[in-house]
Amino acid sequence: MLGKLVNWIDERIPMTDTWNKHAGQYPAPKNFNFWYYFGILATVVFVNQILTGIWLTMNYNPSGDGAFASIEYIMRDVEFGWLLRYMHSTGASAFFVVVYLHMFRGLMYGSYQKPRELLWVFGCLLFLALMAEAFMGYLLPWGQMSFWGAQVIISLFGAIPIIGDDLTLWIRGDYVISGATLNRFFALHVIAVPLVLVVLVFLHIVALHHVGSNNPDGIEIKENIDENGWPKDAIPFHPYYSVHDAVAVVVMLILCSIVIFFMPEGGGYFLEAPNFEAANPLKTPDHIAPVWYFTPFYAILRAVPDKLGGVIMMGLSILMLFLVPWIDRGKVKSIRYRSIWHKLNLSQFVICFIILGVLGTLAPTPGRTLLSQITTLGYFGYFALLWFYSKNETTKPLPKRVTM
Ligand code: HEM
Repeated sequence: MLGKLVNWIDERIPMTDTWNKHAGQYPAPKNFNFWYYFGILATVVFVNQILTGIWLTMNYNPSGDGAFASIEYIMRDVEFGWLLRYMHSTGASAFFVVVYLHMFRGLMYGSYQKPRELLWVFGCLLFLALMAEAFMGYLLPWGQMSFWGAQVIISLFGAIPIIGDDLTLWIRGDYVISGATLNRFFALHVIAVPLVLVVLVFLHIVALHHVGSNNPDGIEIKENIDENGWPKDAIPFHPYYSVHDAVAVVVMLILCSIVIFFMPEGGGYFLEAPNFEAANPLKTPDHIAPVWYFTPFYAILRAVPDKLGGVIMMGLSILMLFLVPWIDRGKVKSIRYRSIWHKLNLSQFVICFIILGVLGTLAPTPGRTLLSQITTLGYFGYFALLWFYSKNETTKPLPKRVTM
């Protein structure tokens, strides 16, 4: 019966072919390590966000008068509403943890190098869309930090010469952040940006499966095929990696459950304390800080004394990520076979990024501003140095086959 049904479907749409091409017979390098879990984990978190988001929307009221109260209603009166909300808020932070680790893997193993430039660019677009999605979602509870955080970030557009004031007005839909802003952010958060994310994830996977996965050795497994045309260093994605990844999914779910059930506010980093107070346009919180995943970029913004200069540097810090495939002129992909300079450079980049992240959560002092300027230099220094040394870098010889 089942075979007949599958045949019937296959005659009409390429179901089995698609399954084989993208899972059952997808040749995945056999040396994947820990760092190769995060793409799947990002996909799982994405599905969680969509599902919990749909159920939250059923009881959320997207209006200036009702939003804050409807969140309280979800938390107290809706059956398991608290669980849905905490799954969604924890999911937002988990998404960024996973995506930052995923991006770091790409930098480490040169997964952005030829022929994976477009795959990387789709990834960067995903990162940008994800930041927009998180930013707009954060306005929806209509708490103090929702309101004032949005106030700070939207006003940044005002620094753009000539069109700045009109642009901020256009984004807010009002002279101040108001119910009109909340309405449009709701529309963008629940439908427009998620659609963009779905399309981008699809393109990301299409690009990945077209060129094939990179691996920790950074050598192309397609260059070494057996008599059947199967890469000698590949194993079918299913069942080998589907089972392998399922373990990582369980571990992630356990870690997320610990947060959801025991520390849903994440020590004030996942849900900030002032956001438990309703938005009040007449009372500014003592210290406005974005959620942790934006803080490295926020610290770069604040490191520059001039507002427009800060906005430009923040924009450039993201643009640099898009350009990595062309900034890195090296021929060897994986950090394993690259020079000590590359190892040091990537290490200092990560350290600077973390320090910037911490600084972005703290109120500025002269000492902290100086440190954020030094680490901003380290952040941009990564790209500048990479461009210089990668052309004539001394590298180790590459193995012919992947190493286990
Ligand atoms: C919603 C966010 C994202 C999802 C759901 C996602 C999903 C995936 C999946 C399932 C894979 C294959 C499994 C793996 O290699 O881990 C993958 C690979 C990859 N992703 Fe993403 N990704 C996302 C964001 C990003 C971002 C932000 C970047 C970089 C800026 C990126 C760059 C890459 C690269 C370069 C690969 C190929 C890695 C290799 O073969 O070595 N991705 N992604």
